[in-house]
Amino acid sequence: MVRSVARGCGHYLPARVVENAEFAATLDTSDEWIRTRTGIERRRFAAEGEKTSDLATAAARAALENAGLEAADIDAIVLATATPDQTFPSTATRVQAALGMRGGFAFDVQAVCAGFVYALAQADAIIRIGQARRVLVIGAEVFSRILDFSDRGTCVLFGDGAGAIVLEAAEGAGGPGDRGLLATDLRSDGRYNGILYVDGGPATTGAAGVVRMAGQEVFKHAVVKLAETGAAALARAGLGPADVDWLVPHQANLRIMTMTAQKLGVPLERVVVTVQDHGNTSAASIPLALSTAAAAGRFRPGDVILMEAIGGGLAWGAAVLRW
Ligand code: ACO
Repeated sequence: MVRSVARGCGHYLPARVVENAEFAATLDTSDEWIRTRTGIERRRFAAEGEKTSDLATAAARAALENAGLEAADIDAIVLATATPDQTFPSTATRVQAALGMRGGFAFDVQAVCAGFVYALAQADAIIRIGQARRVLVIGAEVFSRILDFSDRGTCVLFGDGAGAIVLEAAEGAGGPGDRGLLATDLRSDGRYNGILYVDGGPATTGAAGVVRMAGQEVFKHAVVKLAETGAAALARAGLGPADVDWLVPHQANLRIMTMTAQKLGVPLERVVVTVQDHGNTSAASIPLALSTAAAAGRFRPGDVILMEAIGGGLAWGAAVLRW
């Protein structure tokens, strides 16, 4: 059977580092509070004029270089973002143009923090039905543009960045020993729209709006739902928690990651954590963590990587990739 195999990955972070202490200058918060409640120490913010497509294009170029490929080798781009450059066209088509691609197709996926897992599932389906051979899957965000900097409960949590992976069709035996994406599990429940959302949009206020979140509510859902979807994706892949070499979770909060790993039965030393340096970069968080760990030489060929994420919607899901 056809498998979608990881051929390379890359990431891009904007230059400006924002330490926790910067927020303490204008808000009733502290480095200590942010660190102990979230694990976040710093995050990056895009420069004025630096757009999601700029971050995404830089990450895509890094992934192409890592894969030893050129833009002309790519058949499709699937880009996950909740902070597109414009309402339309899709940010994916802007990246397509910036990369100099003259063929193929490109589109955005909107599942907020779960966007990258959703995008992986779409790319895998596209590859498996033979619509494309090589797909660039990107997660890119400039959440700094949709934050209320007077709300200490949300503005300290998020950051900007982008990560990308190149998936390529390869023949596999159809079992859990294959390299590539072995399974995905996607879920959403729109009854929870109101606990994590942006208070604007083209069809409501006509403005972009800012993030609103009932943090404790989201926290409770996150731990339960992430463990469930992670276990379901593993079962679908014909694997179990003991087979997981690396858990690459959505980087929202260190406590959520720790509790989810414990619920799943994955030892903490097998969890890739970058939240201290990136904050929550929504759809970019998993590919950023994945690429950071890959660049550090942490993954070996054949390693089983479990990715899981939850965000606004609520939308959540997991993917199992054999490296
Ligand atoms: N600095 C200081 N105090 C703060 C801050 C801050 N930055 N933010 C909130 N507080 C205060 C609150 O006002 C509250 O004060 P009060 O008791 O006087 O009312 C107190 O801290 C406790 O607030 P809680 O919300 O109960 O704090 P909690 O321990 O739950 O931590 C947090 C808040 C970090 C937001 C946590 O709930 C969380 O991480 N939730 C999950 C959110 C998340 O991960 N969202 C992203 C997933 S989806 C996505 O990625 C879009």
